[in-house]
Amino acid sequence: MNVDNLLKQLSTKEKIGQLLQLAPFHFNVDLKSEVAGRVRSLNIDTEGIFLSGSVLGIRNAEEMLDIQKKYLDNSKHQIPLIIMADIIHGYETIFPVPIALASSFNPRMAFETARISAIEASTAGIHVTFSPMADLSRDPRWGRVVESFGEDPYLAGVLAANMVKGYQNDGIEKVGNLAACVKHFAAYGASEAGRDYNTVDVSRTALHNTYLKSYKKALDAGARMVMTAFNVLDGVPATINQYLLRTVLRDLWKSDVVTISDYDSLKQVLDHGCAENEKDAAYRAIQAGLDIEMASVCYVNYLEKLIEEGIVDIQKLDEAVLRVLNLKKDLGLFDNPYKGASVVREKELLRSKKHFEISKKIALESAVLLKNEKVLPLNKKQKIALIGPYARSKSTNGPWSWHGNIEHNKSLEEVFVNHKINLVYTSEAESINQIEHSDYDQILKADMVVLALGENTRLSGEARSRSDIKLPNQQETLVKMSHTLNKKVVVILFNGRPLDLTNIIESDAILESWFLGSCAADAIFDLIYGIANPSGKLPMSFPRSVGQIPVYYNHLNTGRPLLETNKNNEFLSRYLDIENTPLFNFGYGLSYSSFIYSNLRISQLEFDVDTQLRVSIDVTNESQIPGYEVVQLYIRDHTAQISRPVKELKKFEKVWLGSKDTKTVEFSLDIHDLSYYDAYGNEIYDSGKFTIMVGSNSQETMKIDIWLKGVKHDYQKQSS
Ligand code: IFM
Repeated sequence: MNVDNLLKQLSTKEKIGQLLQLAPFHFNVDLKSEVAGRVRSLNIDTEGIFLSGSVLGIRNAEEMLDIQKKYLDNSKHQIPLIIMADIIHGYETIFPVPIALASSFNPRMAFETARISAIEASTAGIHVTFSPMADLSRDPRWGRVVESFGEDPYLAGVLAANMVKGYQNDGIEKVGNLAACVKHFAAYGASEAGRDYNTVDVSRTALHNTYLKSYKKALDAGARMVMTAFNVLDGVPATINQYLLRTVLRDLWKSDVVTISDYDSLKQVLDHGCAENEKDAAYRAIQAGLDIEMASVCYVNYLEKLIEEGIVDIQKLDEAVLRVLNLKKDLGLFDNPYKGASVVREKELLRSKKHFEISKKIALESAVLLKNEKVLPLNKKQKIALIGPYARSKSTNGPWSWHGNIEHNKSLEEVFVNHKINLVYTSEAESINQIEHSDYDQILKADMVVLALGENTRLSGEARSRSDIKLPNQQETLVKMSHTLNKKVVVILFNGRPLDLTNIIESDAILESWFLGSCAADAIFDLIYGIANPSGKLPMSFPRSVGQIPVYYNHLNTGRPLLETNKNNEFLSRYLDIENTPLFNFGYGLSYSSFIYSNLRISQLEFDVDTQLRVSIDVTNESQIPGYEVVQLYIRDHTAQISRPVKELKKFEKVWLGSKDTKTVEFSLDIHDLSYYDAYGNEIYDSGKFTIMVGSNSQETMKIDIWLKGVKHDYQKQSS
């Protein structure tokens, strides 16, 4: 297919149609099939519908085949629709939610999640997934934290890149692979006060050094699309933001990906107060570089007029349409518009035993053991009282798992029963108020209380911000009750964001399981009974209170930092009523093994811009229990032309250590690992001292100082 020739055959109206994305119900297939955003009718006629270029949110192969056929039957040029959908952490086999996946600190797990998601979703004829979400999140009030990889640009970038590789695999033209759309460009996670869709106001240096890095890594891994964010940046909605869509994406990053708005976000430019009407919105969007408009019709209704009136150069339209047509070509849709969609493949591939096994394997690596006062692993002979809203619930898929059916999952109670655990009492009580007086006799018979607590799945995700991030509905009272009864208590948490756990910190053990997907209950059982060893680490800090938010490990030093050595000073950057540190820090997570770090060494203490540094450390598993450890390398750049974070993750490696094993873990660092960006996105590095820190979390590390020699950039000059 020669897309340049095809473009020449299209009328302006037909070209504009390629930039419209509709939902399946617009094709009169099934009104129930739209899952994202508001269901509402668009101001568009049937001809307009059959000119559109792509579809959002298909349910299955049957629906896809039907829509594509209806469409092509009405299409003069036989240009197939691209089918796009939100396949976020699995299709019918559901994997841990992204914040849990990030806790695995295992890029391979991200790859496998995406790989199987692609294999399954492509059976429905889906071609593009709106994933990965590379938005950095530092505010646990924000509901979409659950869809993110947490607070660190490097970790988020590595995982996003691996998801892209997993989706796209050996080429988007092949059946079984999907094109990835990285979202939400940009800085959506920085919404003020964690309220979804709220204002974002970050400096350009924060943008380049913190927020943009993870999207860039996903694009470098080959992602074919970018979705704009709902928020403003520098006061301009991301969907019409020229700085983001042209200066950064096209000029700085030299990217030719297809850009797409979020649901209705182009029309919302009016609500932002940045366009007078839809015509104005269409003008600003095409000028800014927005290609596809999702679920609103500013382009369809006004772009042609704007071109006729000479306000918009047709060249801008042609560039956008060419990008879309090239994507269709690269997806192989001109050769086979129904690519992938097959009821037979659905039967063969969906929820296969193998996919469930991999989902469980990933779940085992994604839970984080936050506390263990020698109560875990449990012993199968112990009598257990299992209490809490997740005791009998199968609702472990978490948000954005709309093809997944929780009826295929097991509850904790079922798994305990399957393993013949002596359950002396089981209850879905959410608080002490729901425990009958007569129940206490049963609970008293238990050797251990296991509390399955958390947030309902509808408390996290899009438009699910909370101002109070404690466990809801007085669930904390169950911990107090257990201690009053003189029972040891193990808490298993099911939730989509870091919670304020201060009121349950007295629990004897806490396992953060997030939402682990289809095999959550089996994985949790294996972890708490020691059949598997926890290895997850936190990708986001857990605050001591909501008043500390945002609290993240890679903060700047400030001019008056609180240090071990100056605690008695009054005028320091600190709170009067709480510590500065979080309750649980980034990178933290316990294991049943005990790991000792020793012998940190580096290939040279002085280096220049061409040096490849090699950093090594020995890690020993002193225990009898084999397990994984995530070895983390952080740096600090002590003197630069802008203030740099006190610590930044630069490398990590998850290693398996048998009982009493020692392994040497080696990392290599080059100048790009030590550089930063100015406000214009230029890479900068300065001579001076750096500290290399290696350890098992962001707080416990061994250190070496090194010096970069012989460079001094003139910041002002470079930036102008
Ligand atoms: O991909 C999503 C996005 O993350 C939020 N709004 C709707 C889109 C399409 O479903």
